[in-house]
Formats: sequence, structure tokens, C-alpha cells
Amino acid sequence: MSFTSIRDLDLKGKKVLLRVDLNVPRQDGRVTDTTRIDRLKPTIDYLRKAGAKTLILSHFGSPDGENNAQMSLAFLTSILQERWDAPIKFAQDCIGPKAQAIADNLQNGEIALLENLRFHAGEEKNDPEFVAALAALGEIYVNDAFSTAHRAHASTEGLAHALPCAAGLLMETELTALDKALGNPDTPVAAIVGGSKISTKLNVLYHLTEKVDYLILGGGMANTFLHAGGANIGSSLCEKDMAEEAQKIITNAKKNNCEIILPIDCVTVTELSSDAEIQTVSAQSIPPNRMAIDIGPESIMHIESILKTCKTVVWNGPMGVFEIKPFDTGTNAVAKIVANLTTANSLISIAGGGDTVAALENASAAKDFTYISTAGGAFLEWLEGKTLLGVAALQK
Ligand code: 3PG
Repeated sequence: MSFTSIRDLDLKGKKVLLRVDLNVPRQDGRVTDTTRIDRLKPTIDYLRKAGAKTLILSHFGSPDGENNAQMSLAFLTSILQERWDAPIKFAQDCIGPKAQAIADNLQNGEIALLENLRFHAGEEKNDPEFVAALAALGEIYVNDAFSTAHRAHASTEGLAHALPCAAGLLMETELTALDKALGNPDTPVAAIVGGSKISTKLNVLYHLTEKVDYLILGGGMANTFLHAGGANIGSSLCEKDMAEEAQKIITNAKKNNCEIILPIDCVTVTELSSDAEIQTVSAQSIPPNRMAIDIGPESIMHIESILKTCKTVVWNGPMGVFEIKPFDTGTNAVAKIVANLTTANSLISIAGGGDTVAALENASAAKDFTYISTAGGAFLEWLEGKTLLGVAALQK
């Protein structure tokens, strides 16, 4: 994969349209996780030092093409200033006279944040007129939003064709790390996939059986595979109508010498509450009134023995209902095993998507992983082997 980096360009005095992903979690006006903001700092520092006039483009939420004060990016101005240690101007629109006035008055090394792109319907439609209105503000387009690269929107795809384009430093870091995981990995490779349903990850699972040596399954989705293999899974969450799909994945795994690792034992309860009475039972015979909510100690030991033989692991999704203690035990234990093998330099570990980062943070293991992606949906589409259109558009 070859693309221009911002390091290849002369940016002095140039108006740079920088697409980032500021779709950050917010509660009571506060950003509850600043990871996406913090990971952009190297690009921001680079552009400031290079003397670029940076116009920041982002979406926030889903305002569906309507101006919606609840989803204005204005609240982020002071937070960005603090996290990036740089003054930030704000334009009340991302196109037109308000944006133009801010763009025209920027000095070399200055930064302005433009209002939510999705206040305009043309953004999600990748409408050529909207692309042209954005392009009119700048001279160079830089995409640093890997986590939005699965969307072919005006600011993630269209702009790459309208202006000279380059990847930002975060985009480069994400792509390099992900290539190390599945593109060009040290082998053997294991994928750990959890979460409640296989129906949302069918393509991911299918694709992984063609890429990895071990597919380690946990969470509710493992029950569907156990059921498909003839186990009694009691009242566990299970997509019985997906048994045939699970079989197809099992067959494809066999064809590709990928070993699917299912739980050997499970922690079970009769009701989902933290003080419920717990029984650890064989994953092959869960009593009818009990449901699996975590993997058990034998499963953890088995997973550890496999991970010790691997060189690369890619992780998406928790092993159990990690949000309720003590049902985070299995996820925490496996996360610690991966973290320890990583710090001992015997494993490259890459994780991303949805609940994964929260689960690894809960286990205090995230900091020891080789790389944690900032992406949710984009990480899953990458795991599926799909072309991310925002990345493809940057390619030379
Ligand atoms: C994300 O938060 O995963 C990205 O910003 C994409 O957001 P979207 O699903 O609203 O397009």
C-alpha cells in the first residue's frame, strides 16, 4: 500500500484540510475518553511546526444533514486547546463565508476547527458540490481519520480526488500496525474474537479463518458454535438460526488449517446479576436453567498454552459479560496473558473495535498491548478484509 505522507510535502503557508475523527464519547459536556484527540497530537504538532494553516474537519454524531446545536463541535475547542497545547479558532460552518473568513485569516502554524460536517447532507452523500465547497477552502487534503475510513463520504473519500492528498501520521500508524497483524504478520497468528452475536461478525469470522492459525472464540458468540457442534448450552445467549452459518465457518477453518478454539468450561448463572450464584461447568453440558456468562479457568489455561506458541494476536470483543463483575474474570485473565507475553517481547498484540478497548482498559492491560486502534466500525471492516474506501482514495 503506497500513499503520500505529510512528511513528503512542503506545507509552509499552505491551507491544509485535515480530516480527523472527533466523534468522541461525551457525557454532561465532558469527553469521557480523549484517546482519539490525544492520538492526533503528533500530526497537529507536525503541521504547526511545518507552518501549515490547518483547517480541521470532523463529524460528530449523526445529525442527518441538519444543523443541530446538540451536536455542534464548538464544545471541543477548549478541550482540543488543552490536549494539543495550541490555540484553536472555531468556524460556525464547515463551508461558505464563515469558513472562508476563518481560512483566509489563518497565519502559518495556526489551527481552526470547522463545524460538524454532517450538518450538511452533502457530506454523507459524497455530493460533488459539497466536495467542491470544502475543497475551495484549502490547497492540500490530509486524511488522519482511519476510524472513519470505512465511510465513502465527501470529507473521507471525495476530497482525496479534488485536492493533492496525503495520509496524516495517525493514519500511517494505524495502517502500519494493522498490516503487522494480518497483512504481513509474524506467524503463528491467533485472533481472539468475542462479543454477543456471530450475526454481526459473520464476515469477520469467515475472513479470519483464511488468515489466522487459531481463531479463539468467547462471549455469547461462542455459544452459537458450541450449539452448532451439538453441545447443550442451557439457557445461554445463542443464535440458533445461525448454526448453519457457524458450520460454514467451521468448514472453512478446516479447509484453511485454522483451528477454532471454543471454551472448554464456562461460568454460569441462572440470572444476570453480580451476586448470582455461580457454577463453573463443562461447556458441553450446561444445565437447562443456567446460562454461560464467562469462560472458565480450564478455557483460560488452554488459551494461554496456545498464545504462548503464537507470535501475533489480533483481538476484538470480550470473552464474557465484562461490564458486570465478576464476569470480567475471563476477559481480564486473557488480556493479562496477552499483555504479559507482549511485554516479554514474545507476542505482537493488536486490538480494536467496539467494546474491546473498554474491556482491555477494565483489565488494566491496554497500555501493554503493541497497538490499540482508535477505530470501531472501521476496525471490523478491516478485519473482514474489506477495502476501506477512505484509505483506497489516498493511494497513489
Ligand atoms: C466511529 O465513531 O466509529 C466513527 O467516527 C464513524 O462514525 P459513524 O459510524 O457515525 O460513521
